[in-house]
Amino acid sequence: MRALGIESSCDETAAAIVEWAGVESGLRPRLQANVVHGQVEVHARYGGVVPELASRAHMRNIGPVVAEALRVAGVTPAQLDCVAVTAGPGLIGGLLTGMAVAKGLAMGLGIPLVGVHHMEGHLMSPFLDERAGGMDFPFVALLVSGGHTLLLHAEAFGVYRILGRTRDDAVGEAFDKGARLLGLGYPGGPAISALAEGGNREAFRFPRGLSGREQVDFSFSGLKTALRTFLGQHPERMAEESWRRDVAASYQEAIVEVLATRSIEACRQSGEQRLIVAGGVGANQRLREVLLERANKVGVQVYFPPLSLCTDNGAMIALAGLRRLLAGYRDDWDLNVQARWPVDQIIKKKEGVWGIPPPGF
Ligand code: KG4
Ligand code: ZN
Repeated sequence: MRALGIESSCDETAAAIVEWAGVESGLRPRLQANVVHGQVEVHARYGGVVPELASRAHMRNIGPVVAEALRVAGVTPAQLDCVAVTAGPGLIGGLLTGMAVAKGLAMGLGIPLVGVHHMEGHLMSPFLDERAGGMDFPFVALLVSGGHTLLLHAEAFGVYRILGRTRDDAVGEAFDKGARLLGLGYPGGPAISALAEGGNREAFRFPRGLSGREQVDFSFSGLKTALRTFLGQHPERMAEESWRRDVAASYQEAIVEVLATRSIEACRQSGEQRLIVAGGVGANQRLREVLLERANKVGVQVYFPPLSLCTDNGAMIALAGLRRLLAGYRDDWDLNVQARWPVDQIIKKKEGVWGIPPPGF
């Protein structure tokens, strides 16, 4: 079976071709093409994603991106068996663009259409990576991006329980807003971690929101406010490169420590010894370092996807779509997109309503 996966929920227009014969075949999915067109240059001067501009960029880029994926894979549209598309959550304009293209293709080709939850897509990253040989369900997933901060217990494909979530800002936002306060560009995560290099992580102590309790929720708004207040108290030092390095390193450390502590606690609470990290913030080197060190101590195996599978892509959507299709699921032509869609309510549309997945789906 070969799927075209389309992803356009945020600021990446992406299409990929994945071939897979199903769990029983024992064969790993084969990634035949993975094309991503980012929009950093569109949003950079606004310091964040501007939905209207994102919609227009998706509309401009989606045709060429899908055509490029087919070209790279060396397949014709007639060789596709299904079209999988992100149906939510995300920015509505981008979702609508991807959905309209997916429906047009699937209808024209007479093949199934499968709507995919963006976060279920992220959970597929280990299965697309040859290095992650031993990875399988069940596992705990730390999903960290510009829009999400979640700890999930993925018991089986389609069976996900939320263990913890952010109560305010997403962790990517904490990086992006922190970067703006420090006068750095967008996206803020890579900018902060670059500045933090060589800085003293213990120079300043920024708040670790909600720590000291046995729960695994997150809070980042206090951290951001603390940075704003701190910088406001020392305007004269902003020109000092080494001081800014220390601030960036200390700020990053506060975020990383919270993510690592809660992830290990989530593994303990759910009794799992496998942890996967996905989403753009998963690219953070310091997070990788700290998490690996803590996980090793308690015998938890951590999987970090390579960058190309960590950030938004169509491959993860194609594979989630194939898994759903092979489990007997497909969508009707009236499938709609959802800007908000809780991850523990993934699945089946019935008369316009998204319900809870049946166990084991
Ligand atoms: O998953 P993603 O590419 O897009 C969505 O938000 O869905 O994540 C983007 C987020 C941005 O907030 C960006 O600042 C953050 O991931 N990010 C990082 C790093 N690279 C990207 N945060 C920390 N360290 C990084 N190296
Ligand atoms: Zn994402």
